[in-house]
Amino acid sequence: MTMAGRRPLVAGNWKMNGLRGAIAMVEALRNGLSTDLLDRVDVLVCPPSTLISSCVAAVYGSRIAIGGQNLHAKPNGAFTGSISAEMLADLGAKYVIVGHSERRAYHHETDDGVHAKALGARRAGLCGIICVGETKEEREEGRTLDIVRAQLAIGVPKGATGADTVIAYEPVWAIGTGLTPTPADIAEVHASLREMLGQLIGAEAQNVRILYGGSVKPGNARELMAVENVDGALVGGASLVAEDFLGIINAYAR
Ligand code: 13P
Repeated sequence: MTMAGRRPLVAGNWKMNGLRGAIAMVEALRNGLSTDLLDRVDVLVCPPSTLISSCVAAVYGSRIAIGGQNLHAKPNGAFTGSISAEMLADLGAKYVIVGHSERRAYHHETDDGVHAKALGARRAGLCGIICVGETKEEREEGRTLDIVRAQLAIGVPKGATGADTVIAYEPVWAIGTGLTPTPADIAEVHASLREMLGQLIGAEAQNVRILYGGSVKPGNARELMAVENVDGALVGGASLVAEDFLGIINAYAR
């Protein structure tokens, strides 16, 4: 449940899915969202980089935002295959996901690397969505709070604000599995993240949105959004199906 002043954000992470035909999904989203609804919830789609331009064109004139899924920390240079925050911003992206657990697991991203990327996002005027989350083993060992607090403490740049930073709590074991933590477990982690943010950035912590991600579906969205300190959702699989994503957005609108 988001507090007054924090607009809910529902973000779709398409991961490595979507050819040009997927633009129709963004058009369906645009057609399915009234301006009244978009006044009450921020909606973001993060398609693969190859589709960012066409998605930006498809949402032109609406409040739906488009974002990247990853970035290189540097603005430019000899980094074959990489994309900088400036390049994303140049295409019209407004957000970028930083440190998703799939990047951490398959591309060896570290907390320091996440910090550098978050700084890169801010440099280019993008809002960075910094992802944190524990593995199944870490949860079973009772280390969840230690893990996510450390990821946050290293990842979040000094002076972060609600305008340039969003946090996403995504338990690794809940991603793509249909499993979710209990509302009480999510409340505990989000409260702990909010408290840690307070240590890092003071009163501004109240303005930073903390999303929950991991098997968010239309059927559980209402229950998840009702949890204290949950300010929105980062949605994988269900963001690929217009009807499902619209269902989730409706559940999160305030
Ligand atoms: P799912 O919604 O498919 O579980 O994915 C969550 C996620 O990783 C979003 O970034």
